[in-house]
Amino acid sequence: MDGNGRWAKAKHRPRLFGHHQGVETVRDVIKMCNSIGVEHLTLFAFSSENWNRPKEEVSGLMKLFMLVLKREAKSLVKNGVRLEFIGDRSAFSSSFQQRIAQVETLTASGQGLHLIIAANYGGRWDILQAAKKMIQQANRENSVTLNESRFNTFVSTADLPDPDLFIRTGGERRISNFLLWQLAYTELYFTDVLWPDFNQDQLQLAIDDFSSRQRRFGMTSEQIKDKKNA
Ligand code: IPE
Ligand code: MG
Repeated sequence: MDGNGRWAKAKHRPRLFGHHQGVETVRDVIKMCNSIGVEHLTLFAFSSENWNRPKEEVSGLMKLFMLVLKREAKSLVKNGVRLEFIGDRSAFSSSFQQRIAQVETLTASGQGLHLIIAANYGGRWDILQAAKKMIQQANRENSVTLNESRFNTFVSTADLPDPDLFIRTGGERRISNFLLWQLAYTELYFTDVLWPDFNQDQLQLAIDDFSSRQRRFGMTSEQIKDKKNA
């Protein structure tokens, strides 16, 4: 979700105004994903590098996260959204950590959209923490099986399928340390639209673009065709 700051700047407003507007977009996108049957939606809300932003922006964002979690909890439950956080939450204040845990528990039985918020998340961090856990377990069990599927059980998205579609708003054409391990075969979609301006039509464009692509997973088009006809 990129472009909140530039959106605000263009309106001669402080960056936090853009982040507040960005939350409105988050709400709309969740609603749409839930209604069209998207099973999992992962939002990159705060990267491990975002701590380097000006102090006031970081504390403003933390306040905003707290507020939104409190304000939206009921409506998430009502709409069957299951909320989960990934990332190193130990760096957050204990009140924020508590709030996260509360909302996770509250929404745990949601049968609709599974919403994953990446907060203080970094793809390299995820790979490294998974590697540490895998090695620890292998040592404990005196086992030497280190393979992809085993590794996959230690990343923070262990219970989730790999993403089908990655959307980055705000004009940048890079991954910026998002789900590095998980994105190996994900379709990448970049748009210049700034996050606060991203809306249902924009999401539909991204989905249409995704639908027009052939995903071959290393195979040839002929093999894919044969598979479909089988
Ligand atoms: C993304 O918008 C929001 C967060 C990282 C929380 P930016 O804040 O990166 O907006 P720009 O890139 O400065 O426009
Ligand atoms: Mg940015």
